[in-house]
Amino acid sequence: MTDHTRSTDHTDEAPRTGSPSPAPRWTTRPETAADRAAVHAVNAAAFPTPDEADLVDALRADPEAWLPELSYVAEAPDGSVAAYALLTRCHVGDAPALALAPVATLPRYQRQGAGQAVIRAVLDAARLRGEALVLVLGHPEYYPRFGFAPASRHGIRPGFEVPDEAMTALVLDDSVPVPSGLIRYPAAFGV
Ligand SMILES: CC(C)(COP(=O)(O)OP(=O)(O)OC[C@H]1O[C@@H](n2cnc3c(N)ncnc32)[C@H](O)[C@@H]1OP(=O)(O)O)[C@@H](O)C(=O)NCCC(=O)NCCS
Repeated sequence: MTDHTRSTDHTDEAPRTGSPSPAPRWTTRPETAADRAAVHAVNAAAFPTPDEADLVDALRADPEAWLPELSYVAEAPDGSVAAYALLTRCHVGDAPALALAPVATLPRYQRQGAGQAVIRAVLDAARLRGEALVLVLGHPEYYPRFGFAPASRHGIRPGFEVPDEAMTALVLDDSVPVPSGLIRYPAAFGV
């Protein structure tokens, strides 16, 4: 049976320059129970502390936040988990939205397209579910390439101090009015 959740559509291939080692291809798919240890390991390796790896485990235990089909991995060519991206349920005021966090690529696979592949894949999965809005707090140079723009343009604000350009929003469904107000994160974020 064909597994329609698996995708290689989000490959960022290097130009063909005659190099003997072509860029790896990234297969993206939702995580399975068998991936949990690898997902923890990718987050633990990508960030300076285990906090993000522990955050994922705490979110997985929160049925109000966790959306199993929006926890995504990118596989390296050998089938191991190379990168990870997670969308969980948050709210802007009372309106449902999604928080993108964390995003992580194993250090040995960084800057080879795995992060972009897994982010594009999880955003597509959210769009297919009919989700309307995604928020991310992160590197202001990284997320605009996916269409994220300052959340403040929509009157969306976090309940903590952060540089304006670091809190960004992506509207997935233009037909839904974009809510404004305070972002309410799942409890596991501790904010
Ligand atoms: C950020 C991260 C997920 C990017 O994944 P990746 O697989 O290395 O990234 P990709 O290969 O898909 O994309 C590379 C691009 O991202 C940019 N990029 C990578 N890390 C970046 C960073 N920390 N800040 C800004 N840009 C970054 C690169 O400059 C590159 O841009 P270019 O295509 O214009 O040259 C990865 O570097 C990582 O795990 N970092 C540590 C954990 C982290 O900071 N997570 C994000 C929290 S917001």
